[in-house]
Amino acid sequence: MTERIPIASDHAGFELKEQLVRALRALGYEPDDLGTHSAASTDYPDYAHPLAEQVESGRAKRGVLLCGTGLGMSYAANRHKGVRAAVVWSPEVAGFARSHNDANVLVLPARFLSEGDAVAILKTWLETPFEGGRHQARVQKIEREA
Ligand code: RB5
Repeated sequence: MTERIPIASDHAGFELKEQLVRALRALGYEPDDLGTHSAASTDYPDYAHPLAEQVESGRAKRGVLLCGTGLGMSYAANRHKGVRAAVVWSPEVAGFARSHNDANVLVLPARFLSEGDAVAILKTWLETPFEGGRHQARVQKIEREA
């Protein structure tokens, strides 16, 4: 069955999100575009929370967020239990975000990436498995109550 992947951005990530929606389709996934749907100014938490709720509840296995720096989206998404939202700026970091950190939300700094770089990051993140082993216990420790 085709995997549905929720994807969302604010205005700063809008253009790149549109490109990644097309890239997801071309890679054989079913993108679920949660907005924003224009370049008009918006607030990133309004998009981060609905997407992270889907991952938190298990309705989606993983998702993709974009804003200017990636930071605001990651702050909001990481408030959700079980969400590991990673700001990623290169395919190599994307690989480690998966293999070591089991990142289930990919966050892209849209103002600092070309379309080609973003697609390469997306593809690596989608295709790299979590290594488990010594990394499993570390990832579990993230979830302790503060
Ligand atoms: C919007 O101007 C910008 O602040 C936002 O996209 C993001 O970078 C916040 O972290």
